[in-house]
Amino acid sequence: MLIEQMTNKEYKNAMLLYSSALNLINTNLENINNEFAIKLKSNPIEHIKYRLKTPHSIARKLEKRGYEPTLENALKYIDDIAGIRIICSFTEDIYRIATVIEAQTFVKVLKIKDYIQNPKANGYRSYHLIVEIPVFLSGHVEHTKVEIQIRTIAMDFWASLEHKIRYKFESEIPSGIHDDLLECANIVNALDEKMLSLNNDIEKAVNMRQ
Ligand code: GTP
Ligand code: MG
Repeated sequence: MLIEQMTNKEYKNAMLLYSSALNLINTNLENINNEFAIKLKSNPIEHIKYRLKTPHSIARKLEKRGYEPTLENALKYIDDIAGIRIICSFTEDIYRIATVIEAQTFVKVLKIKDYIQNPKANGYRSYHLIVEIPVFLSGHVEHTKVEIQIRTIAMDFWASLEHKIRYKFESEIPSGIHDDLLECANIVNALDEKMLSLNNDIEKAVNMRQ
């Protein structure tokens, strides 16, 4: 079982791979952000968060899906052991960053879910990618999966609150709260659109002055 395997060598090696993959993507994104800062005079990335899934949460996810909670199954069936979340200011930046990531030669895109074009029924919005990247070790290369979520600050604010509420009610959210959350999601979307158009107006006005 996974929890017992945690102290063994295979488990440690696997987690080392995932954390190396997170380091690689993180550095790569920082470089891209710095490049954009010079080229476009703006940083598309507000900040980046990343995490390794805990053994408990890996085991829970496997059991929920009907698999034995073993390391072998975790490597095979769980796509988000390594997770990175990119927070942008504007919706436009999400697609700008996604396009760059998807075009990078070392990145193999396995799955894309665009919950911005197609929000979930509860109002959840974000752009999700499952990618595979090569991690270079001393003697060989290992292809490692990473889940990348890209959202605006406002989408992240909503998702954090929704996650907290879902955790508290153990997925049975009372309908009043459910409706309020959906209303908030619509306000978040309207705010994102307004902030983007305001930013565009500001840029136009600044350019006209120069
Ligand atoms: P999971 O089994 O939850 O990982 O979902 P999935 O394999 O169907 O993938 P999906 O791309 O739908 O979701 C992946 C991750 O996105 C989740 O683990 C959450 O971090 C986030 N996410 C997806 N839907 C929601 C949602 O409705 N609310 C919040 N707060 N986060 C969500
Ligand atoms: Mg997940």
